[in-house]
Amino acid sequence: MELSEAIKGRRSVRRFKPDPVPKEVLEDILDLATWAPSAMNRQEWYFVAAHGQKVEEMKRIFADAFQDIKPRLEKVFADKPKIIEATKEFFETYGGAPVFIFAYCGKAPDGKTWDTNSTAVAVQNLQLAVYEAGLGSTWTDGILGKEKEINDALGVKDRKLLCVLPIGYPDEVPRVPPRREDRVEWVGF
Ligand SMILES: Cc1cc2nc3c(=O)[nH]c(=O)nc-3n(C[C@H](O)[C@H](O)[C@H](O)COP(=O)(O)O)c2cc1C
Repeated sequence: MELSEAIKGRRSVRRFKPDPVPKEVLEDILDLATWAPSAMNRQEWYFVAAHGQKVEEMKRIFADAFQDIKPRLEKVFADKPKIIEATKEFFETYGGAPVFIFAYCGKAPDGKTWDTNSTAVAVQNLQLAVYEAGLGSTWTDGILGKEKEINDALGVKDRKLLCVLPIGYPDEVPRVPPRREDRVEWVGF
């Protein structure tokens, strides 16, 4: 696959087939994620891949997370109850994805703040590799209100959760969001 095709063709997928994803495919994808650039080459990213019972356990935590954002949604989408209902369904099912990947950050070179940047670029690699493998994913962070519960369930300590990616074979063709204009300024040309 051409890189430009991967960059433009990747979409956020939120509905998945139940078909299992071979572990070797996930290993290749996670390997490609770790070829991203990182602050001072510290490679302070961590990934937890969950499957089976762990996915079911996580979905129960995510369903609870919907209650945290419900008041905000009801305010913003007061006249669009379908959006609220669809969001609730997504939090409860995560599109039926058979695999979740939890992307974590380690400490930045200052030793105090979290190195979110390095994990973010690794996640971009990951999402492109997912697409190249014929799979789909979505960066989701609406569940971060339940970070402690998630970390406890996964046994993760001293790391910052950046996002959770449901992974599976797509069961939808997402629409292509148009690009915004006027996002680049040229100087000195
Ligand atoms: C930082 C970040 C946070 C996001 N959070 C969520 C989320 O919580 N739930 C969700 O369904 N999608 C989430 N997305 C996916 C975006 O909605 C999606 O990338 C955007 O609508 C553009 O669509 P595309 O990825 O198909 O190009 C997030 C994406 C990013 C980069």
